[in-house]
Amino acid sequence: MEKLAVIIPAAGSGTRLGSRLPKPFIEIGGKSILERTISRFLKIDCLRQVIVATSPEYVPVLEQMFSSFSNSTIEFTVVEGGSERQHSIFNALKMVRREIELVAVHDAVRPFVSVENILQCISVAEQVGGAVLGVPAKDTIKKVNSEGVIVETPKRAQLWQAQTPQIFQKALLGKAYDIAIKEGFFGTDDSSLVEHIGGKVKMVEGDRSNLKITYPIDLKIAELLIQEEQ
Ligand code: CTP
Ligand code: MG
Repeated sequence: MEKLAVIIPAAGSGTRLGSRLPKPFIEIGGKSILERTISRFLKIDCLRQVIVATSPEYVPVLEQMFSSFSNSTIEFTVVEGGSERQHSIFNALKMVRREIELVAVHDAVRPFVSVENILQCISVAEQVGGAVLGVPAKDTIKKVNSEGVIVETPKRAQLWQAQTPQIFQKALLGKAYDIAIKEGFFGTDDSSLVEHIGGKVKMVEGDRSNLKITYPIDLKIAELLIQEEQ
């Protein structure tokens, strides 16, 4: 397997959750969400580097967390996040080491990703260039205009909800980010930047338990899932 780095954006403000503490640092069952997320990736044999983007005041917290992982084959790096997720990842990309061949991006707030799904994405990214974990859309999705009037109902069978990890060949992701920043192109995930430059990305069917802790209801579900695990 190709050498892997994982970038974990953890610099958001968690507006939709509305908690005082930033989401990645909230503890569930005695462990922070971020620590749980990183632990999942530490089970991947080809992992060589972990880069977390966070706000400056959490750098010492990260350094403490990294020392508790103590792993001689993996380098841990912390970088300062930016105003948007895309900027946080752009900052982190600058720290990816030379020998790395594949770069995964995984939200700090998706602590339930399975090792099996990460491995599937690695294998597809090696073969195709890019891989995105996702699930078929369960709701009918509507496109609306600025007045809220429905203008289109795309066929549900073709719609997928993109999750993370999103894993790419290093050169492809680097080029996509460079061009996006230069052009001021904005996307809400990493794949959209790669698609923008014509890169090939394949959807990998994942699991609905890989939820992104976004709203209070997600935190409640996460607490239940962890209670069940323990
Ligand atoms: N993120 C980041 N830098 C930003 C914004 C988001 O690193 N400027 C990270 C978040 O910390 C999170 C991931 O990107 O791990 C996914 O973002 P999201 O779920 O939207 O988190 P927030 O932006 O914190 O939440 P909200 O959009 O509700 O404010
Ligand atoms: Mg956000």
